Amino acid sequence: ALVVRHHFGNSAKWERAVAIAKELEEQCATPTSKLKLVAEAMEVEMHAGLASDGGSKLKMLISFVDNLPTGDEKGTFYALDLGGTNFRTLRVQLGGNGKGIVKIEHNEVSIPPHLMTSSSDELFDFIATSLAKFISSEPEEFHPPPGRQRELGFTFSFPVRQTSIASGTLIKWTKGFNIEDMVGEDVVGRLTKSLEKIGLDMRVAALVNDTVGTLARARFGNQDVIAGVILGTGTNAAYVERAQAIPKWQGLLPNSGEMVINMEWGNFLSSHLPLTEYDKALDVESLNPGEQIFEKLISGMYLGEIARRVLLKMAEEADLFGDSVPPKLRTQFILRTPDMSAMHQDTSSDLKVVEKKLRDVLKIDNSSLEMRKIVVEVFDIVAIRGARLAAASMVGILKKIGRDTVKDGGKQRTVIAVDGGLFEHYAKFRNCLESTVKELLGDEVAETIAMEHSNDGSGIGAALLAASHSQYLGITES
Ligand code: GLC
Repeated sequence: ALVVRHHFGNSAKWERAVAIAKELEEQCATPTSKLKLVAEAMEVEMHAGLASDGGSKLKMLISFVDNLPTGDEKGTFYALDLGGTNFRTLRVQLGGNGKGIVKIEHNEVSIPPHLMTSSSDELFDFIATSLAKFISSEPEEFHPPPGRQRELGFTFSFPVRQTSIASGTLIKWTKGFNIEDMVGEDVVGRLTKSLEKIGLDMRVAALVNDTVGTLARARFGNQDVIAGVILGTGTNAAYVERAQAIPKWQGLLPNSGEMVINMEWGNFLSSHLPLTEYDKALDVESLNPGEQIFEKLISGMYLGEIARRVLLKMAEEADLFGDSVPPKLRTQFILRTPDMSAMHQDTSSDLKVVEKKLRDVLKIDNSSLEMRKIVVEVFDIVAIRGARLAAASMVGILKKIGRDTVKDGGKQRTVIAVDGGLFEHYAKFRNCLESTVKELLGDEVAETIAMEHSNDGSGIGAALLAASHSQYLGITES
C-alpha cells in the first residue's frame, strides 16, 4: 500500500522518491513462502548449533539452567540487569511454600553512553556503585543475619560462554557496547572485583541472559511457557530443550532432562533474509560489522537507523525535504526507534505527530503532508519486515520442539514470554508479530499458542534463579 498513489505533482524528483520507496518495499518483502523458508532455516541452524560449538552462526549457548524456579523459593534476593539502554537494580522478596513473589523494589538508571565503550573498570565500578546506593538506603529488615551474604542474580545480556550457573566468559559484545578488555573475561569475576573494591559483600548466585531471565520469570507459575524472547534494543530467544537433543553437552544429564538454551538468534544468518543496500551500509559502519545481521533487521537499536538511511537517500536524490539535505539527517542513530514508533502510529489525519517529530528531531521545519506520508510509508516497510522476521523465528523454535502442530486435541498449550520495548510500546510491531505467527501456523495451531508480556522478566527472573541456586538452600534461618 504505497503512498505513491497520492498525487505528488509532476516533478521528476517526486517520482524518484516514489521509486526509492517502491524499491525498498520490494527488497523488504516477506511473503509467507519466504517466511516459511526462514523458519525452516532457523530450525536447521538450531540443530547445527546444538551439535557442536561453532557448528552454526547460532551459538545455542548452554545456560546451565536445568531447573526453573518452582514458586517455593524463599528469602530476599537481588538482581542487576545490564544489557539495554537502561540499567536496573532489583530486590525481590519471595514468600516460600508456593507464595511466590511477595514484593519487588527496583531502581532504573540510563547508562551513560560513554561507559558502553570505555573500559571494564569504569563500567563495572559504575554498576557496583549503583548497587551499593540501592542497598545503603535499605531498611534494617533487609540486613542479612550475621554470617550471611546477600545473593544476587546478574542479568548480563550478551553472548556468554557459561562454565557454571554462576560463571562464564564474554564471547563478544553486541548492541551499542564495545569494551575490548572484557572480551574473553569472566563476567562474574569482573563484577565481584568491583563489588570488593567498594566493600560490598555480595555473592553472584546466577549469571543469566535476559532471555533466560524472562523465561524463568514467566515459567514461575506457568508450565506452558517454553521460551523467553526479547524484542528490545537487541533481540534474542531462550527456550527449554531436551538435554538428550544437545549433542555438544558433555556434562551429566540433568534430572529434569531439560536444559535452557540461549540461542543468540540475533546472529542468525540465511540467504533467505531480505537484505537491502541500507542494511549492508548500516552493518559495515556499525561497531560489529558482519555480526548480528538478524538483530540489525529487527531490533530497536536499528529500526530507526535503517529508516534514517532511506530518508537520507530520498533527501539526496529526490530533494524529499527541499533543495538541501537537512544536516541532522546525516547523523547516525539520530532517529531513535521510539520516535519512529510515535510517528508511525500517528492517527491524526494531517500527521501532526510526524510533523512535530520531524521538526524536533531532524530540524525539518516545513514538511508537507505528502512528505510526511512517504516518511510513514518508509517506517511501515521497515517495521513490518522486522516484525515478520521475528515471527518466523518464533515459529522456527516451535517447529524445533514440536509445538507447531495441535496435540491432545488442542489441550496442549504453548506460551512464549516476551519482553522489550518493541513488544511493549510499538503496537504496530506487536500486532504484526502476532498476526504473522498466526499466518504461518494456521488458525487451528495458532489457537494453542500465546504470547505473554513478561514485564521486567529479565531482572526478576535472575533473582528467582539466584534463589533457586542459593548457597543457603536447605539451611533454615536461625
Ligand atoms: C543481544 C545480545 C543477547 C541479548 C539480546 C537482547 O542480541 O547478544 O545476549 O539477549 O541482545 O537483549
